[in-house]
Amino acid sequence: PAHIYKTKIWWSVPPWLQGTLVRNGPGLFSVGNSEYNHWFDGLSLIHSFTFHNGEVTYRSKYLKSETYKSNTKADRIVVSEFGTMVYPDPCKNIFARTMTHFRNIVPNFTDNNLINIIRYGQDYYASSEVNYINQIDPLTLETVGRVSLYTSKNHIALNLATAHPHYDKDGNTFNMGTAIIGLGRPKYIIFKVPANASESSKVLTTIPFRSALYPSYFHSFGMTENYIVFVEQSFKLDIVKLATAYFRGVNWGSCLKFDEKDRGALPASSPGLYLKSSLPETSTLPCASHTDSAQKQQNDMIYDS
Ligand SMILES: [Fe+2]
Repeated sequence: PAHIYKTKIWWSVPPWLQGTLVRNGPGLFSVGNSEYNHWFDGLSLIHSFTFHNGEVTYRSKYLKSETYKSNTKADRIVVSEFGTMVYPDPCKNIFARTMTHFRNIVPNFTDNNLINIIRYGQDYYASSEVNYINQIDPLTLETVGRVSLYTSKNHIALNLATAHPHYDKDGNTFNMGTAIIGLGRPKYIIFKVPANASESSKVLTTIPFRSALYPSYFHSFGMTENYIVFVEQSFKLDIVKLATAYFRGVNWGSCLKFDEKDRGALPASSPGLYLKSSLPETSTLPCASHTDSAQKQQNDMIYDS
């Protein structure tokens, strides 16, 4: 059962504030005798704050991801995370280990979705930055089940997607992802999931990488009424390192690198066409984490991150 508490309030909560705020984050850092190495690795704990008639009720529940279930069953960490690479069966012979390595060239990422709660259509999902998302019930915090975006049956197939999509006034969701391995030409993908579940999701546009083996890492992007703003920044994924990480025994996090020679770029939505950017030449870190706002003012785009 979920832990449910009526919270103590030091200041007053206005009675017009009604509804439920759902968040998530890392909540459990050890399983049995094993521990995670990084704050980004902890098993997802879903929290909710329900505001009703000036009172606040807090509730929390661990996300019952396949990762959570596998770890709990084994009583140790058996699924690799951003900063923790683990090997499910250390007793396997070299042949079996090599075969496991080939299966892991397309990394079977964790579904420990600990970054954000997002809405696609009418459904709510715990999300991280990989192909797996886990649907949750926003009221009970029960896990409904996992969905993979890496499947040819999907209209949108990708390896990575941000945990920070945008929503328009009609409730449609816009997000960006990356197809790196096993999904045809490597590319960034901008897609739309309609608010109306009877309509299908669609890819709005794709953008090829500037450098095939070093796509940019991006944690979020900008959106205005008419534009998607994407900075192809100089903090990058190293595809060769990613494909060999499992065999080399290093974590996924070590496959990211900052390219000091690169100034970053603003690709336009037409493939191959780049906008002239005004990223300051003197900037040493054209690398944004969260996009706070993007808005169009006459001929300028104001991008705040
Ligand atoms: Fe974030």
